Parts: sequence; structure tokens; C-alpha cells
Amino acid sequence: MSRAGDQPLVLGIETSCDETGVGLVRGHTLLADALASSVEEHARFGGVVPEVASRAHLQAMVPTVHRALAQAGVRLADVDAIAVTAGPGLAGALMVGLAAAKAYALAVDKPLFGVNHLAAHVAVDQLEHGALPEPALALLVSGGHSSLLLVRDVTAEVTELGRTLDDAAGEAFDKVARVLGLGFPGGPYVERAARQGDPEAIVFPRGLSTPRDLATHRHDFSFSGLKTAVARWVEARRRDGQDVPVADVAAAFQEAVVDVLTRKAVTACRDTGVGHLVLGGGVAANSRLRAVAQARCEEAGIVLRVPSPRLCTDNGAMVAALGAQMLARGREPSRLDAPADSSMPITQVLAAGGAG
Ligand code: KG4
Ligand code: ZN
Repeated sequence: MSRAGDQPLVLGIETSCDETGVGLVRGHTLLADALASSVEEHARFGGVVPEVASRAHLQAMVPTVHRALAQAGVRLADVDAIAVTAGPGLAGALMVGLAAAKAYALAVDKPLFGVNHLAAHVAVDQLEHGALPEPALALLVSGGHSSLLLVRDVTAEVTELGRTLDDAAGEAFDKVARVLGLGFPGGPYVERAARQGDPEAIVFPRGLSTPRDLATHRHDFSFSGLKTAVARWVEARRRDGQDVPVADVAAAFQEAVVDVLTRKAVTACRDTGVGHLVLGGGVAANSRLRAVAQARCEEAGIVLRVPSPRLCTDNGAMVAALGAQMLARGREPSRLDAPADSSMPITQVLAAGGAG
């Protein structure tokens, strides 16, 4: 341990997409959260270009680690464990982070925890609101995933109650932003445009919400029909030579997403008898989602926990937070041959490595 009586110090590295994130956490305390983003290099393509992201991670890795250490006022030798995103994410991008984490773990002779990115999105809440209640329900909404999770133990026991059958919520925000001629990634731009709009100006479809859908896909989501409905509506206006009311379309689309996400999350809490809901992932930064979730949870007697917006989008602190929890619970570290797994399932919170 770095200092007698202190909780262990964990360095977390995140490179699953376009953010190089390095965080330092001691127990539940956030000490540093350094971020380098390649988002501007992808913006003109309207989506993340994997090769460009991998190269940017390579360039940013060492400087970002140094920045995090300086922010926290610690040395690499003080670190008690290294945590890193092992998956899911872009394979090449993950490999850069994992290779760096292994090198750091070897250099300081400390354990390595290759962790699941999605579980890290849930674990990060502990940095602001203390230990997670067990069990908790989590609504995980990011650019690649939209799931309802039953979290019995964020270091070992996470099960999926439902997931999106097609697009993730964040992906829908990104695609609708493109249709409306807004920037990338779309979520923050759509949110900003929606502030001036009327959410009831247009009624867009709520996916998998009819009684029949609820019988077969009670906890699942679908956003591709919504995305297509928005695109068709906008095309029809343009075809007729009419202006597109961007703010109204953004507000009505956002309302449809938020309505379904919050309704289904509350239903899942009721069905499982779980009294705590945690939001996680980039879309959880959305202020309308946060507000509606708060109102509906209050109404249903559910305690809502939401990390601050900066900790909802990808960052290294969330990986360090989950790593710190792994150490605290005495979990067996990953082996140094732990692979990057671009489609790591949420049921696997920790990468073991090796064949056995
Ligand atoms: O968790 P995240 O940073 O990366 C992934 O793991 O995918 O999530 C990124 C996604 C993007 O699709 C982005 O548009 C969305 O989160 N997002 C938002 C907001 N901020 C980011 N969506 C809606 N409202 C926001 N304020
Ligand atoms: Zn993420």
C-alpha cells in the first residue's frame, strides 16, 4: 500500500472509443481525471474512424498518464493497481490501452485488472454517492449500448434484463443530429437544439411500448424505428420545400427516447423489487433524461443515482473506480496475457486472460 492506513491507489486507463482517459482513484475518492479526445479528427466523417482513434490513443497515452499523476500529486510508483478497459469497444483502440496498462503493471510490479467498460459506467457513481446499494438496477445508455442491468455486485455479478434490439440510444442521437445537420457526437447538439423546441410539436413513435411488445420485450428497447421516423418526417418537409423546425424535431425526438428509457427503467425496478436506479453512459449526461428520470423515480418511490455529466461520458476515472472496487473486494487480478475483447459481454466484468 502506498501510505500506511490509506485505501489503495488505482490508476485507470480507458481507450475503448475516441477518448484517452486516465483516472486516479483512492478508495471512493477521485484524485485525477485526465482526458484527451480525438473527437475533432472524426467529426468530418460523422462517426469515429477506428484507425484514427487508435493512432490518437498511441500519441496521447503517455502524456495523459503524466497529466493525471501530476493532477493527483502522486508518482507511478505509489500506485497499488492498474485498471484498464478490456472491452467492449473498438479492437485496435482497446489494444493500445491494454498494452500500455500491461507495461505500467509490469514496470511497477502491481496487479492488472482488465475490466468491462459498461460495468465501469455504473461503478463511477460511487465516486460521488458512495458505495452502490446491492442490488441496484442500472440503465446503461451509451453510443454502443442501451441496457437495463441488474447489478448484484458490480465487480462480479451483473445480469442483463433487457437491451436494444437495434440502435443504441446514443447512436440514435448521433444519427438524428446528422439528419438535422448538427455536429458530432450528436447528443449534446440535439440537447442544445431541443431547449428551444416544443417536445409535443410532433409525436414520434415509442419503440417496443405497445401492450403486445411489452408481453415479449418488456425490458428491451428499439430506436431504429424512431430514427427512421425522424428522417422520413424531415425528408417530407424538405421535399415540400418547407423549412425544417430543427428545435421542435430535436425536442420531440429527445422526448420519445427519454420517455421510453425512463418508463422501462421504472418498470424494471418494480418488476424486480429493486429500490435504487443508477444511470450510466454518455446519454445519461442528457439533462432531459436526468430530469424525467428524477420525476418518475420520485413518483415510484425509487432512489435515483446519477453521476455528474462529465463522469457519464467515457473517462478514466470510471475504470479506476471499478478497479478500486475489485481490489477492495479481493478479486483475483487479470493475467498479463488478458486479451482485448471488442464484444465483451456485460456478464463478464473482469478479463481473466490465458486459456485456463
Ligand atoms: O459512453 P459514451 O461516452 O461512449 C460510449 O461508450 O459509447 O457515450 C457516447 C454517446 C454518444 O452517442 C453521444 O451522442 C451520447 O453518448 N451523448 C449524449 C449526450 N452527451 C453524450 N446523448 C444525449 N444527450 C447528451 N447530452
Ligand atoms: Zn462508454
